[in-house]
Amino acid sequence: MSFPKNFFWGGAIAANQAEGAWNVDGRGPALTDVTTGGSVKEPRYITFIDKDGKPGKFPKRGDVLPEGAHYAVLDGYYYPNHDGIDFYHHYKEDIKLFAQMGFTMFRMSISWSRLYPNGDEEVPNEKGIEFYRNVFKELRKYHIEPLVTIWHFDTPLYLEERYGGWTNRKLIDFYDRFAKTCFTEFKGLVKYWLTFNEINNTVMFLEMFGNKATPQMYRDAYQHLHHQFVASAHAVKIGHQIDPENKIGCMICGITFYPLTCDPEDILLNRHTWEQNIFYCGDVQCKGQYGSYAKRLWAKHDVKLNITEQDLIDLQEGTVDMYTFSYYMSTIVTTHEVKERVGGNFSAGAKNPYLKYSDWGWAFDPAGLQYYLEMIYDRYGLPIMVVENGLGAYDKVEEDGSIHDPYRIEYLKEHIKAMDKAIANGVDLIGYTWWGCIDLVSAGTGEMRKRYGFIYVDKDDEGHGTYERSKKDSFYYYQKIIKSNGNDLD
Ligand code: BG6
Repeated sequence: MSFPKNFFWGGAIAANQAEGAWNVDGRGPALTDVTTGGSVKEPRYITFIDKDGKPGKFPKRGDVLPEGAHYAVLDGYYYPNHDGIDFYHHYKEDIKLFAQMGFTMFRMSISWSRLYPNGDEEVPNEKGIEFYRNVFKELRKYHIEPLVTIWHFDTPLYLEERYGGWTNRKLIDFYDRFAKTCFTEFKGLVKYWLTFNEINNTVMFLEMFGNKATPQMYRDAYQHLHHQFVASAHAVKIGHQIDPENKIGCMICGITFYPLTCDPEDILLNRHTWEQNIFYCGDVQCKGQYGSYAKRLWAKHDVKLNITEQDLIDLQEGTVDMYTFSYYMSTIVTTHEVKERVGGNFSAGAKNPYLKYSDWGWAFDPAGLQYYLEMIYDRYGLPIMVVENGLGAYDKVEEDGSIHDPYRIEYLKEHIKAMDKAIANGVDLIGYTWWGCIDLVSAGTGEMRKRYGFIYVDKDDEGHGTYERSKKDSFYYYQKIIKSNGNDLD
């Protein structure tokens, strides 16, 4: 196998899906705290009180808060992120298990509202800083390198409500302050950073899941994204000033798109899909400017971006040091009528007859990972990391407490082989962090039963359980892989 000697092997989680302790030690609420549990069929909802004081909800993907309404936690709903897997109180035990597996890297995020409960304060919450400092020290104790995502879907609720979220330019300043605090407070403890998790989702998801976005939603999404690009560029500059040792990356939701047919119209649509969904963000964050096709996308959606001269300079000066991405699946695009569609919570298009699908409709496609790695490395020439990859599946706990998950082992093995091939073909791949190395709340569906972990957490979809941790078969398999630096896959 061709994994380099210092290759980072590890796992990944996000604050809002794991920490719990949503209102502990001064933490303020985030959007994820007013998001209900869903399932493979039922969407997650965001709950609110409308202008007349009546409770209401809208699907997390595909709508916006009605005029005059306030986000609210309502009686009669379950909010799975409130408790997550209680990583907040279990982190020492969890990190010890990661160390047993041999992790050399652990990816986690910082809850913005734990540091800045409302998001626009001048001074951070000391208790929040203390928590993360303790986590990083614990990781260092086991020589595990932290990889920290500054923003992972959890903008403080107050910023959403009071300022309207990322469509408002003011969010850039609040994020800058937050990022600066992270770089300053955790200097010496953290060296690897990601500015925004799956930054491209904002535009990409407008057209996925069968969503039909309104023209205004397109305009908002592109402006939102522009503000995040500028904020990301600022973070890169600030991070380098505070510690030149910092390595700061972008993080893209990496989906490999294929055309359904060889009809040239399908081929062209596929290329345009890559541009809109994947390259649009990578180009700005890695090359420091919008791609030539951006004008076509803006025209198509009647987007008139508010971009300042200074923004353009900042984008140029704040390009990232590395490209990181999540990869779960490939999907198909076509101009033709689709006979067989993918089922599940990610009903993103036509079914690929050459692939098998998870219970949530996600295609198992290791070759798609190799394709993505080779294509992206060739485009940017930056060190690259797979910071999310994994299989959400139903697990069964046997009478004796053991958990046999050969499906997860197979998924892992085949994706490692794909990475190996990409490295052999010249890709400078420097690390791999498996998503949900410990079971956590699904972002898409809010379920616990969609499990990714090598470590099982005893908690169900209604929040019942002991929160006890136990090792699945895949725990020992990943341990073996790490020990052999990817060589022993049997
Ligand atoms: C990515 C996110 O979209 O995919 C994670 O960065 C998320 O937060 C992961 O959990 C898997 O998706 P899901 O919906 O199965 O949790």
